[in-house]
Amino acid sequence: MPELNPNLEHVGTGFAAFLAPPGPEVVRFTVGQPDFDTPAPIVEEAKAALDRGETAYTRPQGTESLCSAVKEHLMQFEIDVLSDDVVVAPGCKQALLYGMLAVMAPGDEVLLLSPAWPSYDGMVRLTGATPVHVPVRREDYHPDFQALEQHVNANTKAIIINSPNNPTGAVYTREETQAIVDFAVKHDLWILDDMIYSTLVWTEEGYTSPCAFEGGAERTITIGGWSKGWAMTGWRLGWVTGPTNVMDGVKKVNVSAATHVPTFLMPAAEKALSLREEIDVMRDAFAERRLAVHAGFSSLPGIVVPQPEGAFYILCDITGTGMTDMEFATEALEKAKVQLIPGSLMKGGEGLIRISYATSLENIHEGVRRLRTWLESRA
Ligand SMILES: Cc1ncc(COP(=O)(O)O)c(C=O)c1O
Repeated sequence: MPELNPNLEHVGTGFAAFLAPPGPEVVRFTVGQPDFDTPAPIVEEAKAALDRGETAYTRPQGTESLCSAVKEHLMQFEIDVLSDDVVVAPGCKQALLYGMLAVMAPGDEVLLLSPAWPSYDGMVRLTGATPVHVPVRREDYHPDFQALEQHVNANTKAIIINSPNNPTGAVYTREETQAIVDFAVKHDLWILDDMIYSTLVWTEEGYTSPCAFEGGAERTITIGGWSKGWAMTGWRLGWVTGPTNVMDGVKKVNVSAATHVPTFLMPAAEKALSLREEIDVMRDAFAERRLAVHAGFSSLPGIVVPQPEGAFYILCDITGTGMTDMEFATEALEKAKVQLIPGSLMKGGEGLIRISYATSLENIHEGVRRLRTWLESRA
């Protein structure tokens, strides 16, 4: 038989093993999607587009009006791109892969700030490039610039950043983002900026784009999407934008791989970007839950949690319990009926547990209560 694609040998399946839906008796802190319905005006817009018969092929990168709406949305973050340089893709995930395929080639090395969302590792490998995991600072999960300098070499082609971050909940400061740009300029790297959680931020400064700094715009590929901030995970809609030379490559990838996202979803995606109130309601709910989740988990014996700064995740250091993260997650499910993600499913995540607080306050309180009972019974 002919050989399989060797690039796939080391491509993992992310959190899949710990995401299996358990019975209703289990409190889940695992699912990384908003527990809200997509706001009604967005759904209505998709239905209306279907009724208008918008079911044929259209402009591959997305309609002019949708690409302009994405461009306008990004202006608030000091990202100033041409609407012709916006491509709408089936999910932020595929938008990321398009960006990677436009700039990465076999033999290239790509820096990831680790622990990183596991799909980056797999996607980089699909391009034939090699992911290089650079640990973040353990105390607050912010970038460690000394460590970055130690991992860069002549083959390094790009750095992937994600702030607000999954799995850490960290939001990089303006100074840190500027330092990332300076680092990329110094070593002539592309920056892939996954800003999918940019509207879910709990720090004063909020999300900062590398495009806001000198030297940033011409080397930053910005990737985002509707899944998290607009509760649209199942719609599979994301965007990618950046310098024209990169986007020419992205457009080739897009027409080869997808042609475009469903035509009748485009007006709905545009509608989503015009909404304020509906989006604020969800964001405010996450903001409230983050206080409860931080207070609850940091009061548990043996657990240390930095302040959550953005997205809907916290990453708990559980080394004080004497268990490995695998033991912790496995026993928590069996004994406390609480489902969590063990950090060692990600490189550099050993001793950590990821909690998603995209769940009700009631679940947060109940989950913490169960974990306390279980942990105290082991002491
Ligand atoms: C950091 C990050 N980027 C991208 C994605 C994927 O987004 P989408 O569902 O739009 O493909 C996720 C989903 O969990 C994520 O956490």
